[in-house]
Amino acid sequence: MPTSFRPRRSVLYMPGARARALEKAKSLPADALILDLEDAVTPDEKPAARDLVVNAVTEGGYGAREVIVRVNGLDTPWGADDLAAAAKAGPDAILIPKVEDPASLAAIAEQITSAGAPDRTALWAMMETPLGILNAAAIASAHPRLSCFVMGTNDLVKELRAEHVAGRAPVQAALSQCLLAARAHDLVCIDGVYNAFKDDDGLRAECEAGRAMGFDGKTLIHPAQLAVTNEVFGPSEAALAEAREQLAAFEAVTMSGGGVAVVNGKIVENLHVETAKRIIAEAEAITRLEAEAS
Ligand code: COA
Ligand code: MG
Repeated sequence: MPTSFRPRRSVLYMPGARARALEKAKSLPADALILDLEDAVTPDEKPAARDLVVNAVTEGGYGAREVIVRVNGLDTPWGADDLAAAAKAGPDAILIPKVEDPASLAAIAEQITSAGAPDRTALWAMMETPLGILNAAAIASAHPRLSCFVMGTNDLVKELRAEHVAGRAPVQAALSQCLLAARAHDLVCIDGVYNAFKDDDGLRAECEAGRAMGFDGKTLIHPAQLAVTNEVFGPSEAALAEAREQLAAFEAVTMSGGGVAVVNGKIVENLHVETAKRIIAEAEAITRLEAEAS
């Protein structure tokens, strides 16, 4: 695992027009914040939201939290100005909605470079349309600035003419396809939102399912969703203890010439050791992040 690894358990959307929410986010336990100019902002408020968000990024104060700006699509009246303003402000990432093909995304990457985006500003892509999902593998390798897929499950359910159901069977294929593409090209992959923001049990079930699939974290719509999400997407004490035990047992076995250890009745081979090391590195990164944020 690279030392630059950073936790992205909880990625909170914040309406860009709400100055109070932008301020409040400075003390919220979110790993990352998406300052939204797209769906959470009404057309009347778009220009004012752009100014608020650019000021928030420029002034900072978000500590170790990653700051991402979601712009409007380039096919809207606001997209081009959003992109230019976001590039100049230089957040950790710029999130592009409804990405559908690699060529358009590569062109956007070149545009932000021309507009003065620093090298540290990554591109993140919303995966939320049928065409985008079908092109996931090509999009994932479209440009070196691209570092993350964000699942847009609300748009996807709408476009499929599907329904929101527990277990998310209607969007499973799309979620899996994007995860495969992301992992094949070493991208981060963040799960979609859970709309019923007062339903903690439903949120927990969806976080657990997303984590089991391999998602790095979940996008959220309300601060009340942070605690459950951070808990589920961080390694549990039990998982961390087992990872440490596996590592120690494997080291002991290799010292005596063997290649397979047994911990808690399960075999531990080289590949399990890699997973154990990833879990330990994740836990250490979370501890560092939380120390910086507090
Ligand atoms: N980010 C940061 N702070 C938020 C927040 C968010 N997404 N959602 C709510 N808050 C803050 C509120 O400003 C309020 O702060 P205050 O007590 O200092 O005034 C506090 O959390 C409690 O908010 P609450 O009254 O429970 O919610 P609300 O009725 O103000 O808002 C929503 C509910 C769903 C409208 C709001 O959470 C929201 O707009 N979420 C984001 C939606 C979005 O971004 N959608 C696009 C992506 S899917
Ligand atoms: Mg969307």
